[in-house]
Amino acid sequence: MDTAFQAADPAPSPLPRRRLLEGQQALVTGANSGIGKAVAVALGEAGADVVVNYVAGPEAAEAVAEEIRSHGVQAMAVQADVSREEDVEAMYEHIFATFGTIDILVANAGLQRDAAFERMTLAAWNTVLGVNLTGQFLCCRAAIREFKQRGIRREISRAAGKIICMSSVHDRIPWAGHVNYAASKGGVAMLMQSLAQEVAPHRIRVNAVSPGAIRTPINTDAWETPEAYAALMRLIPYKRIGEPDDIANAVVWLASDESDYVTGTTLYVDGGMTLYPGFEAGG
Ligand code: BGC
Repeated sequence: MDTAFQAADPAPSPLPRRRLLEGQQALVTGANSGIGKAVAVALGEAGADVVVNYVAGPEAAEAVAEEIRSHGVQAMAVQADVSREEDVEAMYEHIFATFGTIDILVANAGLQRDAAFERMTLAAWNTVLGVNLTGQFLCCRAAIREFKQRGIRREISRAAGKIICMSSVHDRIPWAGHVNYAASKGGVAMLMQSLAQEVAPHRIRVNAVSPGAIRTPINTDAWETPEAYAALMRLIPYKRIGEPDDIANAVVWLASDESDYVTGTTLYVDGGMTLYPGFEAGG
């Protein structure tokens, strides 16, 4: 098989999207770039009104909201640092005042602060855990409160609410040099499952998507040059980098009634990265 793929390989063309989420309201955190942006646009294409959360860069967030509105739904950009309780509470208040309620939360905001362990500062540890794990806790808690007190809107969805936690293959694959990040995503896995167990009787579904290497700004170093791309391909049996839309497709499905019996699950969208590719010809 020819594995001489280039960083410039074109992304597969987008699939047509059905309006599976008509009439629903969604919040996507960290939606001004990368995976969050693709997810927010896809939810809009699927018929949902979308809140585009961002922490910095209002212009980019407003551009995403504009793109979403071109699909005939409502969208607004809302600034909040998800690691800060008062920011999260104020964001939700603003959402309820404007949209009335929410049906879907995509807890996506995440970042990396990589360092060799002995050089990892407490600040780098706290920032990563604060955004990637505490941020998901705070955003999930506010969403759960709303889902529970409002209940099911039968004309909208079979569930009282849907949460999709953005995790990573590094909730399973240990990652040297990125201990804070891997620890945060390992935490997301248990946050998601324990919460799913707790709220399932209320017909609230909580799932995670674990992306592998996706072509986004967080990991430019891993795919930007032909050498880096070739090295990356050794970790990906499917032999292409993931596109933000690959993740968006999974999120739309998990947010829709097509996955109504799915809760507490992590969907790995990784081109086989979690299949131990090092064992392809060994062991
Ligand atoms: C990280 C990326 C990395 C990918 C695969 C993601 O969770 O954010 O930087 O390329 O995992 O290792």
